[in-house]
Amino acid sequence: MNYHIVTYGCQMNLHESEKIAGVLKAKGYDNPTSPEEADIIVFNTCCIRENAENHAFGNIGALKQLKRQKKGLIIAVGGCMVQEEGKAALLKAKFPFIDILFGTHNLSELGDLIEKKRAQRRTVISVPEARTEIEDGVSPVRTSYPNAWVNIMYGCNNFCSYCIVPYVRGRERSRKMEDVLSEVRALVEEGYKEITLLGQNVDSYRDESGADFAALLDKVASIEGKFRVRFMTSHPKDFSAELVAVMKKHKKICKHLHLPVQSGSNRILSLMNRRYTREKYLDEIALLRREIPDCEVTTDFIVGFPTETEEDFRGTLSLVEEADLSSAFMFIFSPRTGTRAAAMEGQIDEEVSKERLSRLIALVNEKTRQKSAKYVGKTVEILCEDYDAKKGLYLGRDEYGRMGYFESNIDRVGEFVRLRVTRANGISLYGEAAD
Ligand code: SAH
Ligand code: SF4
Ligand code: F3S
Repeated sequence: MNYHIVTYGCQMNLHESEKIAGVLKAKGYDNPTSPEEADIIVFNTCCIRENAENHAFGNIGALKQLKRQKKGLIIAVGGCMVQEEGKAALLKAKFPFIDILFGTHNLSELGDLIEKKRAQRRTVISVPEARTEIEDGVSPVRTSYPNAWVNIMYGCNNFCSYCIVPYVRGRERSRKMEDVLSEVRALVEEGYKEITLLGQNVDSYRDESGADFAALLDKVASIEGKFRVRFMTSHPKDFSAELVAVMKKHKKICKHLHLPVQSGSNRILSLMNRRYTREKYLDEIALLRREIPDCEVTTDFIVGFPTETEEDFRGTLSLVEEADLSSAFMFIFSPRTGTRAAAMEGQIDEEVSKERLSRLIALVNEKTRQKSAKYVGKTVEILCEDYDAKKGLYLGRDEYGRMGYFESNIDRVGEFVRLRVTRANGISLYGEAAD
Protein backbone atom coordinates (compact mmCIF):
# COMPACT_ATOMS: atom_id res chain seq x y z
CA MET A 1 0.00 0.00 0.00
CA ASN A 2 1.03 3.60 -0.63
CA TYR A 3 1.86 6.35 1.83
CA HIS A 4 2.77 10.02 1.82
CA ILE A 5 4.33 11.90 4.75
CA VAL A 6 4.49 15.69 5.02
CA THR A 7 7.06 16.96 7.52
CA TYR A 8 7.47 20.39 9.07
CA GLY A 9 10.06 21.63 11.57
CA CYS A 10 13.48 20.55 12.72
CA GLN A 11 15.78 17.61 12.00
CA MET A 12 14.30 15.83 14.99
CA ASN A 13 10.97 15.89 13.18
CA LEU A 14 12.51 14.80 9.87
CA HIS A 15 13.98 11.81 11.67
CA GLU A 16 10.70 11.14 13.42
CA SER A 17 9.03 11.00 10.02
CA GLU A 18 11.49 8.23 9.15
CA LYS A 19 10.25 6.41 12.24
CA ILE A 20 6.63 7.04 11.22
CA ALA A 21 7.51 5.47 7.85
CA GLY A 22 8.87 2.51 9.84
CA VAL A 23 5.58 2.12 11.72
CA LEU A 24 3.61 2.40 8.46
CA LYS A 25 5.82 -0.23 6.82
CA ALA A 26 4.99 -2.67 9.59
CA LYS A 27 1.29 -2.04 8.77
CA GLY A 28 1.79 -2.82 5.07
CA TYR A 29 2.26 0.73 3.80
CA ASP A 30 5.62 0.33 2.13
CA ASN A 31 5.51 2.48 -1.00
CA PRO A 32 6.08 6.24 -0.76
CA THR A 33 4.01 8.11 -3.38
CA SER A 34 2.37 11.46 -4.18
CA PRO A 35 -0.63 12.43 -2.00
CA GLU A 36 -3.02 11.64 -4.89
CA GLU A 37 -1.88 8.01 -5.04
CA ALA A 38 -1.51 7.50 -1.28
CA ASP A 39 -3.71 5.24 0.87
CA ILE A 40 -2.57 7.10 3.97
CA ILE A 41 -1.29 10.67 4.33
CA VAL A 42 0.50 11.62 7.54
CA PHE A 43 1.31 15.17 8.61
CA ASN A 44 4.15 15.51 11.09
CA THR A 45 3.66 19.05 12.36
CA CYS A 46 5.71 21.78 14.05
CA CYS A 47 4.58 24.69 16.22
CA ILE A 48 7.83 26.56 16.89
CA ARG A 49 6.52 29.68 15.13
CA GLU A 50 3.10 30.73 13.97
CA ASN A 51 3.96 30.38 10.27
CA ALA A 52 4.89 26.72 10.76
CA GLU A 53 1.36 26.16 12.06
CA ASN A 54 -0.23 28.20 9.28
CA HIS A 55 1.49 26.11 6.62
CA ALA A 56 0.18 22.92 8.17
CA PHE A 57 -3.34 24.31 8.50
CA GLY A 58 -3.31 25.37 4.84
CA ASN A 59 -2.06 22.03 3.57
CA ILE A 60 -4.34 19.90 5.71
CA GLY A 61 -7.33 22.01 4.61
CA ALA A 62 -6.39 21.47 0.97
CA LEU A 63 -6.97 17.72 1.34
CA LYS A 64 -10.72 18.01 1.85
CA GLN A 65 -11.45 17.33 -1.85
CA LEU A 66 -9.10 14.37 -2.10
CA LYS A 67 -10.58 12.85 1.03
CA ARG A 68 -14.08 13.17 -0.45
CA GLN A 69 -13.06 11.62 -3.78
CA LYS A 70 -11.02 8.76 -2.43
CA LYS A 71 -12.84 6.25 -0.28
CA GLY A 72 -10.70 4.61 2.35
CA LEU A 73 -7.99 7.29 2.33
CA ILE A 74 -6.69 7.78 5.87
CA ILE A 75 -5.46 11.20 6.98
CA ALA A 76 -3.39 11.26 10.18
CA VAL A 77 -1.99 14.38 11.83
CA GLY A 78 0.69 14.15 14.51
CA GLY A 79 3.70 15.95 15.95
CA CYS A 80 4.35 19.04 18.04
CA MET A 81 1.34 21.10 16.99
CA VAL A 82 -1.07 18.33 17.96
CA GLN A 83 0.64 18.07 21.35
CA GLU A 84 -0.10 21.76 22.10
CA GLU A 85 -2.87 22.30 24.60
CA GLY A 86 -6.27 22.45 22.91
CA LYS A 87 -4.91 22.01 19.38
CA ALA A 88 -6.14 18.47 18.78
CA ALA A 89 -9.72 19.57 19.53
CA LEU A 90 -9.30 22.64 17.32
CA LEU A 91 -7.96 20.56 14.44
CA LYS A 92 -10.84 18.11 14.73
CA ALA A 93 -13.39 20.94 14.74
CA LYS A 94 -11.81 22.71 11.78
CA PHE A 95 -11.07 19.60 9.71
CA PRO A 96 -13.62 16.91 10.67
CA PHE A 97 -12.25 14.71 7.85
CA ILE A 98 -9.02 14.02 9.80
CA ASP A 99 -9.06 10.32 10.78
CA ILE A 100 -6.31 10.15 13.38
CA LEU A 101 -4.73 12.72 15.70
CA PHE A 102 -1.62 11.67 17.63
CA GLY A 103 1.01 13.56 19.65
CA THR A 104 4.76 13.50 20.10
CA HIS A 105 4.82 10.77 22.74
CA ASN A 106 3.05 7.96 20.92
CA LEU A 107 4.22 7.68 17.34
CA SER A 108 5.03 4.00 17.90
CA GLU A 109 1.30 3.47 18.56
CA LEU A 110 0.26 4.80 15.16
CA GLY A 111 -0.20 1.24 13.89
CA ASP A 112 -2.77 0.51 16.62
CA LEU A 113 -4.49 3.82 15.95
CA ILE A 114 -4.84 2.87 12.27
CA GLU A 115 -6.49 -0.43 13.33
CA LYS A 116 -8.82 1.46 15.61
CA LYS A 117 -9.77 3.86 12.86
CA ARG A 118 -10.54 1.03 10.46
CA ALA A 119 -13.05 -0.23 13.04
CA GLN A 120 -14.84 3.06 13.72
CA ARG A 121 -16.16 6.10 11.86
CA ARG A 122 -15.21 8.68 14.46
CA THR A 123 -11.86 10.47 14.50
CA VAL A 124 -9.34 8.61 16.67
CA ILE A 125 -7.65 11.04 19.04
CA SER A 126 -4.71 9.89 21.13
CA VAL A 127 -2.53 12.63 22.57
CA PRO A 128 -1.07 11.36 25.84
CA GLU A 129 0.57 13.72 28.29
CA ALA A 130 4.35 13.66 28.57
CA ARG A 131 5.85 10.22 29.10
CA THR A 132 9.15 9.32 30.61
CA GLU A 133 10.06 6.23 28.65
CA ILE A 134 11.97 6.33 25.40
CA GLU A 135 10.58 5.03 22.14
CA ASP A 136 13.42 2.86 21.01
CA GLY A 137 11.38 0.10 19.45
CA VAL A 138 10.76 1.58 16.01
CA SER A 139 13.12 0.90 13.08
CA PRO A 140 13.16 3.97 10.85
CA VAL A 141 12.89 3.89 7.08
CA ARG A 142 15.89 6.12 6.41
CA THR A 143 15.61 8.59 3.55
CA SER A 144 18.75 10.66 3.86
CA TYR A 145 21.57 8.34 2.80
CA PRO A 146 24.56 8.86 3.13
CA ASN A 147 23.58 10.75 6.29
CA ALA A 148 21.83 9.03 9.17
CA TRP A 149 20.20 10.80 12.09
CA VAL A 150 20.56 9.22 15.50
CA ASN A 151 18.62 10.49 18.51
CA ILE A 152 20.62 10.66 21.69
CA MET A 153 18.05 12.40 23.85
CA TYR A 154 14.50 13.68 23.78
CA GLY A 155 12.76 16.68 25.32
CA CYS A 156 14.07 19.87 26.88
CA ASN A 157 14.21 21.29 30.42
CA ASN A 158 15.52 24.73 29.58
CA PHE A 159 12.32 26.72 29.24
CA CYS A 160 13.74 29.60 27.25
CA SER A 161 10.96 32.12 27.73
CA TYR A 162 9.94 32.25 24.04
CA CYS A 163 10.01 28.52 23.33
CA ILE A 164 7.20 25.98 23.11
CA VAL A 165 9.43 22.91 22.79
CA PRO A 166 9.57 21.99 26.52
CA TYR A 167 5.75 22.00 26.56
CA VAL A 168 5.25 19.79 23.51
CA ARG A 169 8.28 17.50 23.83
CA GLY A 170 8.30 16.97 27.57
CA ARG A 171 11.24 16.58 29.95
CA GLU A 172 14.73 15.50 29.00
CA ARG A 173 15.30 11.77 28.56
CA SER A 174 18.65 10.38 27.40
CA ARG A 175 19.13 7.10 25.59
CA LYS A 176 21.56 4.58 27.01
CA MET A 177 25.06 5.11 25.69
CA GLU A 178 25.33 1.46 24.61
CA ASP A 179 22.11 1.75 22.57
CA VAL A 180 23.39 4.83 20.76
CA LEU A 181 26.75 3.20 20.08
CA SER A 182 25.29 0.00 18.71
CA GLU A 183 22.95 1.97 16.44
CA VAL A 184 25.89 3.97 15.08
CA ARG A 185 28.04 0.85 14.61
CA ALA A 186 25.26 -0.82 12.63
CA LEU A 187 24.77 2.29 10.46
CA VAL A 188 28.47 2.53 9.66
CA GLU A 189 28.50 -1.14 8.77
CA GLU A 190 25.53 -0.58 6.48
CA GLY A 191 27.53 2.09 4.66
CA TYR A 192 26.27 5.37 6.09
CA LYS A 193 29.02 8.00 5.82
CA GLU A 194 27.72 10.73 8.11
CA ILE A 195 26.12 10.34 11.50
CA THR A 196 24.26 13.29 13.01
CA LEU A 197 23.57 12.99 16.73
CA LEU A 198 20.30 14.71 17.57
CA GLY A 199 18.85 16.27 20.68
CA GLN A 200 17.08 19.54 21.54
CA ASN A 201 20.03 20.25 23.75
CA VAL A 202 22.75 17.65 23.25
CA ASP A 203 24.89 19.03 26.07
CA SER A 204 22.26 17.86 28.56
CA TYR A 205 22.88 14.24 27.57
CA ARG A 206 23.41 12.01 30.62
CA ASP A 207 23.66 8.25 30.44
CA GLU A 208 22.42 6.25 33.45
CA SER A 209 26.08 5.67 34.31
CA GLY A 210 26.66 9.43 34.43
CA ALA A 211 28.47 9.72 31.07
CA ASP A 212 27.99 13.15 29.52
CA PHE A 213 27.84 14.33 25.92
CA ALA A 214 31.60 14.78 25.54
CA ALA A 215 32.09 11.15 26.66
CA LEU A 216 29.43 9.90 24.26
CA LEU A 217 30.86 11.89 21.34
CA ASP A 218 34.32 10.55 22.10
CA LYS A 219 33.01 6.98 21.94
CA VAL A 220 30.98 7.57 18.76
CA ALA A 221 33.97 9.11 16.99
CA SER A 222 36.16 6.18 18.11
CA ILE A 223 34.07 3.70 16.10
CA GLU A 224 36.11 2.30 13.20
CA GLY A 225 35.33 3.21 9.60
CA LYS A 226 35.37 6.17 7.23
CA PHE A 227 32.52 8.41 8.30
CA ARG A 228 31.83 11.86 9.71
CA VAL A 229 30.11 12.87 12.91
CA ARG A 230 27.90 15.93 13.37
CA PHE A 231 25.70 16.90 16.29
CA MET A 232 22.99 19.37 17.12
CA THR A 233 21.92 21.42 18.98
CA SER A 234 24.40 22.77 21.53
CA HIS A 235 23.54 25.39 24.14
CA PRO A 236 26.02 28.15 25.09
CA LYS A 237 25.18 27.80 28.79
CA ASP A 238 26.52 24.21 28.74
CA PHE A 239 29.50 24.68 26.46
CA SER A 240 32.53 22.86 27.87
CA ALA A 241 36.27 22.64 27.36
CA GLU A 242 35.84 18.83 27.37
CA LEU A 243 33.60 19.06 24.32
CA VAL A 244 36.20 21.16 22.49
CA ALA A 245 38.93 18.69 23.47
CA VAL A 246 36.92 15.79 22.01
CA MET A 247 36.25 17.76 18.81
CA LYS A 248 39.95 18.45 18.51
CA LYS A 249 40.94 14.85 19.19
CA HIS A 250 38.90 13.26 16.40
CA LYS A 251 39.26 13.97 12.70
CA LYS A 252 35.88 12.32 12.19
CA ILE A 253 34.07 15.11 14.03
CA CYS A 254 33.17 17.93 11.64
CA LYS A 255 34.80 21.25 12.42
CA HIS A 256 31.48 22.95 12.68
CA LEU A 257 29.60 24.02 15.77
CA HIS A 258 26.01 25.20 15.58
CA LEU A 259 25.70 27.32 18.70
CA PRO A 260 22.47 29.32 18.81
CA VAL A 261 23.01 32.67 20.51
CA GLN A 262 19.56 34.23 19.85
CA SER A 263 20.60 37.81 20.71
CA GLY A 264 23.69 39.95 21.25
CA SER A 265 22.11 41.96 24.07
CA ASN A 266 22.59 40.82 27.67
CA ARG A 267 19.31 42.41 28.71
CA ILE A 268 17.40 40.44 26.07
CA LEU A 269 19.33 37.22 26.81
CA SER A 270 18.28 37.53 30.43
CA LEU A 271 14.62 38.07 29.48
CA MET A 272 14.93 35.04 27.20
CA ASN A 273 16.13 32.97 30.19
CA ARG A 274 19.17 31.81 28.22
CA ARG A 275 21.51 31.86 31.24
CA TYR A 276 24.66 33.13 29.52
CA THR A 277 25.95 36.53 28.48
CA ARG A 278 27.30 37.90 25.25
CA GLU A 279 30.76 37.90 26.87
CA LYS A 280 30.50 34.23 27.83
CA TYR A 281 29.46 33.36 24.28
CA LEU A 282 32.42 35.25 22.84
CA ASP A 283 34.80 33.59 25.32
CA GLU A 284 33.52 30.17 24.27
CA ILE A 285 34.12 30.92 20.62
CA ALA A 286 37.58 32.25 21.43
CA LEU A 287 38.41 29.00 23.25
CA LEU A 288 37.06 26.95 20.36
CA ARG A 289 39.15 28.88 17.82
CA ARG A 290 42.27 28.66 19.94
CA GLU A 291 41.99 24.90 19.94
CA ILE A 292 40.51 24.38 16.46
CA PRO A 293 41.43 27.50 14.46
CA ASP A 294 39.42 26.64 11.34
CA CYS A 295 36.24 25.59 13.15
CA GLU A 296 33.17 27.29 11.67
CA VAL A 297 30.41 28.54 13.94
CA THR A 298 26.81 29.03 12.87
CA THR A 299 23.93 30.25 14.99
CA ASP A 300 20.24 31.09 15.38
CA PHE A 301 18.94 34.60 16.00
CA ILE A 302 15.57 35.90 17.09
CA VAL A 303 14.79 39.55 16.34
CA GLY A 304 11.92 41.58 17.76
CA PHE A 305 11.84 39.86 21.16
CA PRO A 306 9.56 41.88 23.54
CA THR A 307 11.13 45.22 24.53
CA GLU A 308 14.06 44.86 22.08
CA THR A 309 15.39 48.35 21.36
CA GLU A 310 17.43 49.54 18.40
CA GLU A 311 20.44 49.46 20.73
CA ASP A 312 19.76 45.83 21.74
CA PHE A 313 19.45 44.96 18.09
CA ARG A 314 22.74 46.69 17.26
CA GLY A 315 24.31 44.37 19.84
CA THR A 316 23.05 41.46 17.74
CA LEU A 317 24.50 42.98 14.58
CA SER A 318 27.90 43.59 16.14
CA LEU A 319 28.03 40.03 17.49
CA VAL A 320 27.93 38.62 13.94
CA GLU A 321 31.25 40.30 13.24
CA GLU A 322 32.82 39.83 16.67
CA ALA A 323 32.06 36.12 16.82
CA ASP A 324 33.02 35.74 13.16
CA LEU A 325 29.91 33.69 12.45
CA SER A 326 29.67 32.04 9.04
CA SER A 327 25.90 31.77 8.72
CA ALA A 328 22.72 31.83 10.74
CA PHE A 329 19.06 30.90 10.85
CA MET A 330 17.21 34.14 11.58
CA PHE A 331 13.66 34.48 12.84
CA ILE A 332 11.17 37.12 13.90
CA PHE A 333 9.92 36.46 17.44
CA SER A 334 6.61 34.62 17.29
CA PRO A 335 4.52 34.65 20.47
CA ARG A 336 3.57 31.09 21.44
CA THR A 337 0.56 30.71 23.71
CA GLY A 338 1.56 29.45 27.16
CA THR A 339 5.16 30.69 27.04
CA ARG A 340 6.30 33.54 29.29
CA ALA A 341 7.45 35.79 26.46
CA ALA A 342 4.05 35.71 24.78
CA ALA A 343 2.59 37.47 27.82
CA MET A 344 5.39 40.02 28.23
CA GLU A 345 4.78 43.72 27.84
CA GLY A 346 6.54 45.59 25.07
CA GLN A 347 5.69 43.35 22.11
CA ILE A 348 7.44 44.73 19.05
CA ASP A 349 5.59 46.06 16.04
CA GLU A 350 5.86 43.64 13.11
CA GLU A 351 7.14 46.29 10.72
CA VAL A 352 10.01 47.09 13.09
CA SER A 353 10.88 43.40 13.41
CA LYS A 354 10.77 42.90 9.64
CA GLU A 355 13.07 45.82 9.07
CA ARG A 356 15.53 44.47 11.67
CA LEU A 357 15.39 41.01 10.20
CA SER A 358 16.24 42.27 6.74
CA ARG A 359 19.23 44.24 8.07
CA LEU A 360 20.47 41.17 9.93
CA ILE A 361 20.00 38.92 6.89
CA ALA A 362 21.95 41.37 4.71
CA LEU A 363 24.83 41.41 7.19
CA VAL A 364 24.95 37.64 7.69
CA ASN A 365 24.74 37.00 3.94
CA GLU A 366 27.66 39.32 3.36
CA LYS A 367 29.67 37.42 6.01
CA THR A 368 28.80 34.11 4.38
CA ARG A 369 29.78 35.44 0.96
CA GLN A 370 33.14 36.73 2.18
CA LYS A 371 33.95 33.45 3.90
CA SER A 372 32.96 31.31 0.90
CA ALA A 373 34.97 33.49 -1.49
CA LYS A 374 38.15 32.49 0.35
CA TYR A 375 37.66 28.90 -0.81
CA VAL A 376 38.01 29.71 -4.51
CA GLY A 377 41.18 28.07 -5.79
CA LYS A 378 41.33 25.63 -2.87
CA THR A 379 40.40 21.96 -2.70
CA VAL A 380 37.79 20.80 -0.19
CA GLU A 381 36.49 17.34 0.64
CA ILE A 382 32.76 16.98 0.26
CA LEU A 383 30.51 14.04 0.98
CA CYS A 384 28.35 13.68 -2.13
CA GLU A 385 24.76 13.36 -0.96
CA ASP A 386 22.47 13.96 -3.92
CA TYR A 387 21.97 14.89 -7.56
CA ASP A 388 20.31 18.22 -8.28
CA ALA A 389 18.33 17.55 -11.45
CA LYS A 390 17.55 21.24 -12.03
CA LYS A 391 21.18 22.24 -11.95
CA GLY A 392 22.36 19.00 -13.55
CA LEU A 393 25.03 18.77 -10.83
CA TYR A 394 25.94 16.46 -7.97
CA LEU A 395 26.12 18.10 -4.56
CA GLY A 396 27.47 17.47 -1.12
CA ARG A 397 28.74 19.26 1.97
CA ASP A 398 32.20 19.85 3.33
CA GLU A 399 32.79 19.33 7.04
CA TYR A 400 32.21 23.04 7.70
CA GLY A 401 28.68 22.77 6.34
CA ARG A 402 29.18 24.44 2.95
CA MET A 403 27.45 22.99 -0.10
CA GLY A 404 29.69 21.94 -3.00
CA TYR A 405 28.40 21.32 -6.57
CA PHE A 406 30.15 19.50 -9.40
CA GLU A 407 29.55 17.71 -12.69
CA SER A 408 29.91 13.97 -13.03
CA ASN A 409 28.95 11.30 -15.56
CA ILE A 410 28.75 8.65 -12.88
CA ASP A 411 26.71 8.48 -9.69
CA ARG A 412 28.92 9.62 -6.80
CA VAL A 413 26.30 9.73 -4.03
CA GLY A 414 27.81 8.36 -0.82
CA GLU A 415 31.42 9.05 -1.87
CA PHE A 416 33.88 11.49 -0.39
CA VAL A 417 34.93 13.71 -3.30
CA ARG A 418 37.79 16.20 -3.44
CA LEU A 419 36.45 19.35 -5.03
CA ARG A 420 38.64 21.98 -6.67
CA VAL A 421 36.64 25.13 -6.04
CA THR A 422 36.36 27.44 -9.05
CA ARG A 423 33.49 29.70 -7.97
CA ALA A 424 31.50 30.58 -4.81
CA ASN A 425 27.95 31.81 -4.47
CA GLY A 426 26.58 32.47 -0.97
CA ILE A 427 27.14 29.33 1.10
CA SER A 428 27.56 27.22 -2.07
CA LEU A 429 30.83 26.32 -3.75
CA TYR A 430 31.12 25.18 -7.38
CA GLY A 431 34.02 23.23 -8.77
CA GLU A 432 35.47 20.15 -10.38
CA ALA A 433 35.95 16.75 -8.85
CA ALA A 434 39.70 16.33 -8.39
CA ASP A 435 39.59 12.53 -8.36
N1 SAH B 1 16.95 23.35 20.92
C1 SAH B 1 17.49 24.22 19.97
C2 SAH B 1 16.53 24.58 18.84
C3 SAH B 1 15.22 25.13 19.20
S1 SAH B 1 14.18 25.64 17.92
C4 SAH B 1 18.06 25.39 20.71
O1 SAH B 1 17.92 25.52 21.87
O2 SAH B 1 18.70 26.21 20.07
C5 SAH B 1 15.22 26.39 16.76
C6 SAH B 1 15.26 27.87 16.79
O3 SAH B 1 13.98 28.42 16.62
C7 SAH B 1 15.74 28.47 18.10
O4 SAH B 1 17.12 28.42 18.23
C8 SAH B 1 15.21 29.88 18.00
O5 SAH B 1 16.10 30.72 17.32
C9 SAH B 1 13.95 29.72 17.15
N2 SAH B 1 12.73 29.90 17.94
C10 SAH B 1 12.28 29.15 18.96
N3 SAH B 1 11.13 29.65 19.46
C11 SAH B 1 10.85 30.76 18.72
C12 SAH B 1 9.79 31.73 18.74
N4 SAH B 1 8.82 31.67 19.63
N5 SAH B 1 9.84 32.73 17.82
C13 SAH B 1 10.84 32.81 16.93
N6 SAH B 1 11.85 31.94 16.85
C14 SAH B 1 11.86 30.91 17.74
FE1 SF4 C 1 13.62 25.75 23.19
FE2 SF4 C 1 15.52 26.73 24.71
FE3 SF4 C 1 14.94 24.12 24.82
FE4 SF4 C 1 16.13 25.13 22.67
S1 SF4 C 1 16.99 25.06 24.75
S2 SF4 C 1 14.39 23.73 22.69
S3 SF4 C 1 15.24 27.17 22.50
S4 SF4 C 1 13.61 25.81 25.45
FE1 F3S D 1 9.09 22.29 15.60
FE2 F3S D 1 8.74 20.43 17.37
FE3 F3S D 1 11.05 20.64 16.13
S1 F3S D 1 8.01 22.49 17.52
S2 F3S D 1 11.20 22.82 15.67
S3 F3S D 1 9.13 20.15 15.18
S4 F3S D 1 10.71 20.03 18.23
